[in-house]
Amino acid sequence: MTLPVKNIDELNDAAEQLITFGGAEKIFLFYGDMGAGKTTLIKSLCHCLGTHESITSPTFSIVNEYEGQGSRIYHFDFYRLKSQNEALDLGYEEYFYSGNYCFIEWPEKIADLLPPHYVRVDIQVLDNHERLLTFGKI
Ligand SMILES: Nc1ncnc2c1ncn2[C@@H]1O[C@H](COP(=O)(O)OP(=O)(O)OP(=O)(O)O)[C@@H](O)[C@H]1O
Ligand SMILES: [Mg+2]
Repeated sequence: MTLPVKNIDELNDAAEQLITFGGAEKIFLFYGDMGAGKTTLIKSLCHCLGTHESITSPTFSIVNEYEGQGSRIYHFDFYRLKSQNEALDLGYEEYFYSGNYCFIEWPEKIADLLPPHYVRVDIQVLDNHERLLTFGKI
């Protein structure tokens, strides 16, 4: 499915739709170039889920943890991963199979460790403010 996002103000609506689309599926993988808007969309998703904390990319820690309204959220950014072994050391499986929301930036870095099912979201930059989200269940 595709969802056009004309500007950042429409992102919360898009996030609501993604959560609804996911249903029981709580693992979301985000694909898109640097600056495409992965972190920004995840911020919206976390707010939709009732997080009041500030959401920033977990660049140094690889994973951040937030509390939503009755749900826990793990936010991964694998950009700086040097090898997939680092994800193993981190205990990624415990997070993925915890039943909590997992929002994952740069899943390309853990290509061999992807969970068996998830929602894939591709973010395409159309212009400065406009994005096209393409998503589906894998
Ligand atoms: N419709 C939109 N959706 C998302 N971001 C937008 C939109 N319009 C403008 N932006 C801007 O684009 C930038 C996206 O940056 P962001 O850090 O979210 O990208 P990223 O995909 O996480 O990059 P990285 O790969 O470096 O982690 C932000 O500055 C944001 O304000
Ligand atoms: Mg990011």
